Amino acid sequence: MKDIITLGIESSCDETSVAVIKNGREILSNIIDTQIPIHEKYGGVVPEIASRNHIEAISRVTKKAIKDANISLLQIDAITPTYGPGLVGALLVGLSYAKALSYAIKKPLVGVNHIQGHIAANYLTYKELKPPFICVMTSGGNTQIVKVEDYTKFQVLGKTRDDAIGEAFDKVARVVGLGYPGGPKVDKLAKEGKPNIELPKTHFENLDFSFSGIKTAVINLHHKNPDINRADLCASFQKTVTEILLENTKKAINQTGIKVIALAGGVSANSYIRKEFLKLEKEDIKVYMPDLKLCTDNAAMIGSAGYYNYISGKRDNLDLNAVPNLKL
Ligand code: KG4
Repeated sequence: MKDIITLGIESSCDETSVAVIKNGREILSNIIDTQIPIHEKYGGVVPEIASRNHIEAISRVTKKAIKDANISLLQIDAITPTYGPGLVGALLVGLSYAKALSYAIKKPLVGVNHIQGHIAANYLTYKELKPPFICVMTSGGNTQIVKVEDYTKFQVLGKTRDDAIGEAFDKVARVVGLGYPGGPKVDKLAKEGKPNIELPKTHFENLDFSFSGIKTAVINLHHKNPDINRADLCASFQKTVTEILLENTKKAINQTGIKVIALAGGVSANSYIRKEFLKLEKEDIKVYMPDLKLCTDNAAMIGSAGYYNYISGKRDNLDLNAVPNLKL
């Protein structure tokens, strides 16, 4: 059978990334141009600055992805950009570029949901992984438990009612003075601390999450007691949010009977979360987690999800618009 090559394009937040993917599973190239150093001094992503930098980077990053994959543009079968969710100005850069390329080389445009991309990062790491499985999707913009029924068929079992877990990590880091992006810094400092501070957990009947209560509790503790041991605070925060994730994951397993779990999204790079989830394997549950470099935003995962959309027959017209609050 002929190989199918997809060109993944990702610009939903602060990474301009383009990747060439073979048959949805093999990375021929994955170029990631991160803007983290640019946004660091503002303590978070500034949307207008992100859009301008995507414009500056997109053509250069695409050319490098094509060159590193050692293919010609005409070998591409489908152009598969992220069209949501994300920052609208940032999304529009990658999407407009993808439309222009699709028109120029006369190859189909196939839009990809960014969350679907995060889930697909697992297909690049584990060639044998096939749906159905339960995906614990934790990123800077989203937190949800998804039943992956098929490559393009999803059922959201539970989601956050307020902050995404990554937002809570970033806020905690900012308050204790660690800077942006907070997740990796909390992860590092927590290794030096003890999880000995009691923090609140919000429970719901269903599989929904809430992270604003614990975030506010950490902020209040730090304000009331600026000398509090920051490493202990980070370790306690990380332990409590991991317990929340695990509780809902176990509920999802009981509800669906599916004993295969895959992590996804930037927060699944967290070393403590990865370690604690792996312990589920003692309970006869199979646990998958993407390679660290595929957890945070990248176009390889978008090209993989784009492949599955393409082979399922999805095609988009050149009027495809960016959808900042796109749902699965
Ligand atoms: O998936 P991602 O790159 O962007 C979105 O699609 O949202 O996720 C970014 C989020 C940020 O909140 C960042 O702080 C968090 O992932 N993150 C981590 C770690 N690495 C990145 N959070 C906890 N521990 C980490 N090691």
